[in-house]
Amino acid sequence: MQYSDQQQLQHLYSIEDLKPQTIYELFELTERMQRGELDKTLSQFYLCNAFFEASTRTICSFELAAKRLGVNVVNFSSNSSSTKKGETLLDTMLTLNAMQFDAFVIRHSSDGTAEYMAKIMGDRSAIINAGDGCNEHPTQALLDAFTISQHKNHFDQLKVAIVGDIAHSRVARSLIYIFQHLGVKDCRLIGPRGLLPDADKYPWVTLEDNIDQGLQDLDVVIMLRMQLERMDQRVIPDLQEYFLKYGLNGDRAKRMKDDAIVMHPGPINREVEIASSVSDGKNSVILEQVRNGVHMRMAVIASLLTHKS
Ligand code: CP
Repeated sequence: MQYSDQQQLQHLYSIEDLKPQTIYELFELTERMQRGELDKTLSQFYLCNAFFEASTRTICSFELAAKRLGVNVVNFSSNSSSTKKGETLLDTMLTLNAMQFDAFVIRHSSDGTAEYMAKIMGDRSAIINAGDGCNEHPTQALLDAFTISQHKNHFDQLKVAIVGDIAHSRVARSLIYIFQHLGVKDCRLIGPRGLLPDADKYPWVTLEDNIDQGLQDLDVVIMLRMQLERMDQRVIPDLQEYFLKYGLNGDRAKRMKDDAIVMHPGPINREVEIASSVSDGKNSVILEQVRNGVHMRMAVIASLLTHKS
């Protein structure tokens, strides 16, 4: 359950069961954050960034977002913690919970960690999933969809594609759910067969292993990196060959509409999934995604903490 009895957002650990209305309310709140309307209004709250996996964008933008709202932030990094002395995830989180934070932002390599912690730790604190294994990365999908909404008008008329290592991508899962909630009708998942989901997993999307066909007439393309750290075995033996077959280069990008936007959640691997000429080109909104990530995360934090007070 992400909702309280009053249908307000209590935690954010998945996009799957979010309501479209909640997503649009978060878009509106994000626009208010961009206008600076709620800066420094939540100084009574304390938030803990609990990251058990590496991060640049998510941890820094959550910290910045919280500080812009006046929320007090403590950053926990497993690399320099007592997990190195054998303390388990559960005991670590129970320990941090005993310190009575108002919100936790959790990233962990195991699917379902944030939802599990929400159940274990009770309702005192709001739990925000900052990425759990191959499962979900809800704030990434929210900031991506928000970025699209700033460039394109009607989700139900868009042709969108997610390209690359879909199988191991929590971002892809959250994006598929958010596109479904927002009424996207033409969503293509493009990549080598071994990195695509089973056809019956998301019946409403199109699976495509030929990128040149899949890019045709697109409005939005989202490139993904190879998530080698989550692969049991190396599905793609040669990254140079992968770039030749599936990388987004300048010639391929011409298959999309002239005003198509190019997105990537980051970190990017230049000349593996995307050519520098495209990632740094005029249609790229990759750094805009990062900028919007701060405002979207401000909206999520404010929404959850305001509900508590
Ligand atoms: N997109 C994303 O989650 O990036 P980080 O791993 O740097 O947080």
